[in-house]
Amino acid sequence: MELQDDKRQRFDFLLDRTEEMVEKASDMEKTLIAICNLLKDNCTHYDWVGFYLVDQSGKRELVLGPFAGEPTEHVRIPFGKGICGQAAARKETFIIQDVSTEANYLSCSPKVKSEAVVPIINAGKIVGELDIDSHRCAAFTKEDENFLNQVCKTVSKLF
Ligand code: SME
Repeated sequence: MELQDDKRQRFDFLLDRTEEMVEKASDMEKTLIAICNLLKDNCTHYDWVGFYLVDQSGKRELVLGPFAGEPTEHVRIPFGKGICGQAAARKETFIIQDVSTEANYLSCSPKVKSEAVVPIINAGKIVGELDIDSHRCAAFTKEDENFLNQVCKTVSKLF
């Protein structure tokens, strides 16, 4: 079997599990924690997996939600700031293959080399984001991007 096929099968499996968790969800926070753990435990290049949620009081800010990995000092991020804030402001997926080249970047740990941030959109509005840090440079392929986009589409049903 080709390495790519193996990766695709793994992503298909993880997407199925995510869909099951979302369909059976009775507690949003517990479900988001379980999804973080599922992704981090099964993708060796995902070293930190977390959700940021859009502030409910109307501020254009992201608030740290459930995550798996080391604690981060970035518990609130204004729209436009860092990779997360830019992805929120533009409602676009950001894949950064080398974070050291980014001027508008908020570092959580010097170990992080690349990052993926995918917005969660519900009824045209951004409600949160999935953020993944990797200790490997250029860790995220087009397949990762497609996979994470599908995960976020599924997760958007929780909102
Ligand atoms: N690196 C992010 C901040 C969040 S941490 O990665 C958990 C950014 O630049 O927005």
